[in-house]
Amino acid sequence: MPDILFEPLKFRSLTIKNRILRSNISGRFDNYDGSGTQTRINWELKFARGGVGAIISSFVPVQIRGRIMPNYATIDRDERIPFWRELGRQVHEHDCKYILQLSHGGRQRDVGGIEYLTGLSSTDKEEPLHGFPCERMTAPQIRETVSAFAEGARRAREAGLDGIELHGANGYLITQFLSSAINDRKDEYGGPLENRARFVLDIVRAIRQRVGRDFHLQMKISSTEFNNALLNREKPGNVLEDSIQVCRWLQEAGVDAIHVSSGSSFPHPRNPPGDLPIDEIVKTYDSLISSGRHAFRNFVLFRSWPMNQIFHKRWLRARGERIEGINLPDARAVKRAVSIPVICTGGFQTASFIRETIQKGDCDAVSIARALVANNDLVKLFAAGEDRPAKPCTYCNKCLVNVAENPVGCYEESRFESREEMVLQILSVYQDAPLSEKAATPGAP
Ligand SMILES: Cc1cc2nc3c(=O)[nH]c(=O)nc-3n(C[C@H](O)[C@H](O)[C@H](O)COP(=O)(O)O)c2cc1C
Ligand code: SF4
Repeated sequence: MPDILFEPLKFRSLTIKNRILRSNISGRFDNYDGSGTQTRINWELKFARGGVGAIISSFVPVQIRGRIMPNYATIDRDERIPFWRELGRQVHEHDCKYILQLSHGGRQRDVGGIEYLTGLSSTDKEEPLHGFPCERMTAPQIRETVSAFAEGARRAREAGLDGIELHGANGYLITQFLSSAINDRKDEYGGPLENRARFVLDIVRAIRQRVGRDFHLQMKISSTEFNNALLNREKPGNVLEDSIQVCRWLQEAGVDAIHVSSGSSFPHPRNPPGDLPIDEIVKTYDSLISSGRHAFRNFVLFRSWPMNQIFHKRWLRARGERIEGINLPDARAVKRAVSIPVICTGGFQTASFIRETIQKGDCDAVSIARALVANNDLVKLFAAGEDRPAKPCTYCNKCLVNVAENPVGCYEESRFESREEMVLQILSVYQDAPLSEKAATPGAP
């Protein structure tokens, strides 16, 4: 009997060779101005070589005012097209498709950067984690942003990429409109679900007008927001039933697949599901101290015993017991409600579990981030008959908390023979990168 893991998945206008997609992973690999680098291409090639059917890019801002950190490649202007074309060309050499995540941070970001002071949002209430100020978007600003998404889609198509994903999850701008906990508007973009969904549906229609029906378009959504996961006084935000309705509308408007995530912020106890490595955070969070009104408070919290231990416990409690397949109950419900394919993210790392999940019809494919950072060749291992890698991802989330300050990679020393081996592995993305990139990156070989 053929293995469902290695059966092609047909979307409306795109087919991928198997059921495993590399999930989005941001890393500060690019130039400050948003131009891309060979280092990012090297990073993506690790996964293309490892056998995934498609790579979904990291957060790619459609506007500079939508960036969440400097040094992420953008798609905000036509000069960016050649970089994405070259990246796509090299990924395609490995029979792997490339889907670009069109993104806008809105009020949620990590490092302010120099280009703009206030973010745009559905609300004028600052983002609660770091405390970045924001402005409530006016109708012309909404129209301009919708059009920036459509232009981003056109650029991705002109670059020869295989599709786009709207980043409608994890607290960024699209979530800020969808969320009943965040969106406090009184106009036609706020209030009932129908109004809160207007922004993303405007974006989908604008994209379809700009690129037609034959370019793959999927949406990553936080199907349950758990906005009060850490703070009881917050509202819970959207629940599964709200998101199911949104997914139905997205399908009607021309979306080709749904990528199910959860959580109203990034990070969130449920995303990426795992530990909160307090000792490691203390080493890297200092670079955020000047970012947002609460970052210094957070740093003190992470440094101070027993506050940090209490917070750590709360984080784990809010996550719950389940890591592998944490979003499966939601994905299953979304799958029953729509006829387009459903991709599920969250903790996947075991071939038999993924196989059973797809066979049961809970989702059509899974996306994997950290288990592939740990073992770039995970899909090849599955193809060779391994159920789980010998040195699995421990879900420690050290990769996550290093992103602000260090190159993204696996920072779980226990998975390596030595610290030197770990560092060499992390820095391997700089091999064959031009000297100018290495010079800009302290510590790169
Ligand atoms: C270092 C890191 C960076 C991430 N960057 C993004 C991103 O840019 N966009 C996004 O939608 N999700 C991002 N995520 C979330 C992942 O795509 C994924 O949904 C989540 O980690 C759960 O999958 P996993 O358990 O396989 O890691 C990131 C996760 C990690 C660990
Ligand atoms: S640092 Fe490595 S082991 Fe830890 S979560 Fe990230 S990829 Fe997994």
